[in-house]
Amino acid sequence: MKIGVSGASGQLGKAIVAEIATRDVSVKLIGISRTPGSLPSGVENRLGDYDHPETLTAAYAGLDRLVIIPSADLRPGIRAVQNIAAIDAAIAAGVKHIVFVSVVGTRKQEEPALGAPFWVGEQHLINTAPAWTIVRMSFYAEAFALEVQMSAAAGVLTGLSENRVAYVSRDDLAGAVAGVLTGEGHIGAIYSATGPKSLTGAERAAAATKFIGKPFGFVVLTEAQLRGGLLQAGLPANVVNATASIQADFAAGAFDIVTGDVERLSGRAPKSLEDVLNALSGAEG
Ligand SMILES: NC(=O)c1ccc[n+]([C@@H]2O[C@H](COP(=O)([O-])OP(=O)(O)OC[C@H]3O[C@@H](n4cnc5c(N)ncnc54)[C@H](OP(=O)(O)O)[C@@H]3O)[C@@H](O)[C@H]2O)c1
Repeated sequence: MKIGVSGASGQLGKAIVAEIATRDVSVKLIGISRTPGSLPSGVENRLGDYDHPETLTAAYAGLDRLVIIPSADLRPGIRAVQNIAAIDAAIAAGVKHIVFVSVVGTRKQEEPALGAPFWVGEQHLINTAPAWTIVRMSFYAEAFALEVQMSAAAGVLTGLSENRVAYVSRDDLAGAVAGVLTGEGHIGAIYSATGPKSLTGAERAAAATKFIGKPFGFVVLTEAQLRGGLLQAGLPANVVNATASIQADFAAGAFDIVTGDVERLSGRAPKSLEDVLNALSGAEG
């Protein structure tokens, strides 16, 4: 069986490739990105650029299964076009089963909301692909660790309301996607890869305190205050928009979902936020 990973050079893509390689399944792995050559030996590299759809049909040729990892391009409107191009190319190439990585809480949203391209991708996949699976990701625990490190001087985590988020480790998401790609019985399913617990702002601040070793608080801001602070810190407009959009989704409860899908698909229980932070502390300490 030939399995393709589109976005294989990225952090999630590499983790999916590593997960599949550890499984006792006979597969040929094909890694696709704009930078072929960056993957471990044993993985065939192909050039495929979401912005140049003509490269994608050849990149996806002959694959039995393919996971499409959307790019991390934050420019409004770009990722929706990329997602459609990738899905169209996979169908044109005759890929038998297309897996799309999306985001929990995906619903109809308009640009520049960060969830808009995932909604467009999901709908296009469902309406056009002969056989598909969607794996929705919660917010990465590793991304939370970065947020904490960047907020260490102020010792404050912010939100647009009190809210809960069920952070997932990127490796657990990768394990879930690998389970779909190497398993059977997942066609037409939408899974949500989440951590084991949904944490309040106060619980996140407590985890941050333990991680960094200095007191953290959780503070509710208005969107104008949040945007103003980020702009003042010198962040570019698309990062400010992305952060505000994620915080609006948190406030709407979009990431307040806990499922058993990571364990069901990967065969192991998902790590808690604290587990991930402890492992990062150990690695850095
Ligand atoms: N849930 C969360 O908390 C969270 C946080 C961060 C990101 N994400 C999302 O998670 C997904 C993967 O994240 P990641 O951490 O693995 O990101 P990443 O390390 O930036 O990887 C992105 C991948 O997309 C590829 N890519 C970018 N532009 C491309 C293009 N035009 N054509 C083809 N491939 C392209 C990159 O390959 P080349 O550059 O080599 O072509 C790379 O393999 C993205 O959808 C991102 O938005 C989620």
